[in-house]
Amino acid sequence: MSAREILIVDDDPATREGIAELLSLRELTPLLAADGPEALKLLKQHPAIRVVLTDVRLPGMDGVKLLGQMRLAHPHLQVVLMTAFHDRAVAMRALRQGANDFLQKPIRAEDLLQAIERSLHRARLEVVSSHWREVLDQLKTGTLICDPMGIVKSVTPEAAELLRRSADSMVGKPVWNSTHLGNVRDLFEEEPAAHVGLLVAERHLHFERVPVNRELGIALLLVIDVTEQRRMKKDLAGFAQEVETRVAERTRFLSEEIHFTERLLDTADVLIAYINPEDKLERWNKFGQIVTGLSVEEAERRLAKYARDENSPLQPVFDPRCPDEISGRMAAIPAEDGTERVLTWSARRFREGPGMWGRLIIGIDVTEQKQLETTLQNYNAYLEDMVKQRSRELKTKNAQLIHTARLASLGEMVGSIAHEMKQPLNVIAITADLIKLLRKNGKLNDDLLESNLDKIRGTVDRMATTINHLRGFTHIDATTFKSLTVKQVVNGSLALIGEQIRLEDLEIETEVDGEIPPFRGEQNQIEQVLINLLQNARDAVLELKEQQGRALTLEQRTIIVRGKPHSEKNWIAVEVQDRGSGMPLEVAEHIFEPFFTTKDSSRGTGLGLAICLNIMRAHGGDVEVESAPGKGSVFRMLFPVDTEAVMLASQHTGKQSPAK
Ligand SMILES: Nc1ncnc2c1ncn2[C@@H]1O[C@H](COP(=O)(O)OP(=O)(O)OP(=O)(O)O)[C@@H](O)[C@H]1O
Ligand SMILES: [Mg+2]
Repeated sequence: MSAREILIVDDDPATREGIAELLSLRELTPLLAADGPEALKLLKQHPAIRVVLTDVRLPGMDGVKLLGQMRLAHPHLQVVLMTAFHDRAVAMRALRQGANDFLQKPIRAEDLLQAIERSLHRARLEVVSSHWREVLDQLKTGTLICDPMGIVKSVTPEAAELLRRSADSMVGKPVWNSTHLGNVRDLFEEEPAAHVGLLVAERHLHFERVPVNRELGIALLLVIDVTEQRRMKKDLAGFAQEVETRVAERTRFLSEEIHFTERLLDTADVLIAYINPEDKLERWNKFGQIVTGLSVEEAERRLAKYARDENSPLQPVFDPRCPDEISGRMAAIPAEDGTERVLTWSARRFREGPGMWGRLIIGIDVTEQKQLETTLQNYNAYLEDMVKQRSRELKTKNAQLIHTARLASLGEMVGSIAHEMKQPLNVIAITADLIKLLRKNGKLNDDLLESNLDKIRGTVDRMATTINHLRGFTHIDATTFKSLTVKQVVNGSLALIGEQIRLEDLEIETEVDGEIPPFRGEQNQIEQVLINLLQNARDAVLELKEQQGRALTLEQRTIIVRGKPHSEKNWIAVEVQDRGSGMPLEVAEHIFEPFFTTKDSSRGTGLGLAICLNIMRAHGGDVEVESAPGKGSVFRMLFPVDTEAVMLASQHTGKQSPAK
């Protein structure tokens, strides 16, 4: 049964059925409606209806009104009106409203069938054209309607625009009338071309003849601008190629990268192993193979053994289930040559899936480094031993040297003493002999006796002084040392000799900082040293006065005693500075030798500085001297700081301070 494309609307059932019967002869089955509303309802229910045949006179809503209503919802409906009257006015109104055809009652069967046939044909064409319109709208194409010979009948504005010609200039002439459209003729040949492509105003146009029913007597030409499509196609091709090139490049890069990484893994002086979640040794680099001499399969067995062995230090390193991240664990593994290699191991778990863990292990071979360290340690111990032994030897040597020096200086001194003593002893002997001779001759009177005895007495006194000085060379016992301050010894010395010096019209200035740390010593001895230095300074200033033959300036007359920390840490210095005669290098070289003096025998024994140096050395200290002729000298006594006392003092203040 064909689709129900026809609707008959008539209030007279006989007319409706009669028409239906007539149409059935043409195998058409119309739908039937008695009035307007029923017609509209059926139209809604049957979208296939294309042709409506309606009486003009209808109850309620007349045929013309119904036409208007139907047009609103179905603009492409073919409507044929029937009227019983010879009424031109109604017919004209109906046609203006958009009726497609008009039949006068009484209707002849032939007329009716023809009208229905025409309407159906038009309706179908309408469907085709509306369908095409849609397609054309989408394609944004132009359309040319020609007759079968190619003579243009109408041109859509889009077509005119695409062809760069006005519709008027084309209508009535063959499409190919224009030179650049020559090829379009091929579409109208006996065996027409499927389509024709042309370039018009730099646009690529595609001409296609749409097959339409011959009976319509038209040729439909579509003009499609395919420039964009062509461009897009080209772009697409270019893009595809670019993608391909990029993929190829990336692939090459990645394979190079992989190759590089592989090479890196294999050339690195580091053992690299990767155990996957299935306990397979997935990576075992060359270094691992070289160091252990194990192939991948052998290594897999060996490492699995480590992973199981709870006693092995390598167990947590190789067990993929071991959660720890391990770094810097040192452990040895057997090497191919039977020796052992010491490696520093690091291991890290990698999650490869739910509950699936792989383990990356890195071992750095530190065997040589370890050996070097051991050698170094041994060498260090050896060096320490050597140093100890050398120190012992040096100490012994030093003691020997000191002893030898002592002996030498003693020998020298004994000679000097013998010489020094012989002279006064001679004086005494001669004087005694003289007294004897005078008595024998009866010439010894009281005066002579008295003066000669005085001579003997004076000589004995001088000898006593020298002997007294010599006592400075006696052994100094360090066990009697006490912690002393610079102030203490400076004050002690000045109390003994200060007044004497001032009587010579000289000044003494002291610059002693209270902050100077203490030192250890025998107070009398240190004071003796300081007194010797002060006496020497006094002598030097007086000598300069004698040399100059005129009064001294205050600066020249002033002797400074200065206490200060030494430039070397944990030492202190006590200086005696004078602006006196000073001394040339050839004198300075000998001043510490016993009995070396530049003074006449009534003033100096030459033992002062020798004794000073002896005492200072016995205190672990020393004596320094700076001097320039005519400018003066500085004699510097150096002491090691009494660190014990300093420490005790700081502890004491540390304890005291919170209570303060
Ligand atoms: N401050 C000084 N300025 C210049 N020369 C000095 C000074 N101190 C010492 N000397 C030189 O060093 C020599 C040795 O000094 P030392 O104290 O050993 O003996 P002395 O002073 O000559 O005799 P003694 O000290 O036995 O009375 C002195 O004779 C003098 O030439
Ligand atoms: Mg002296």
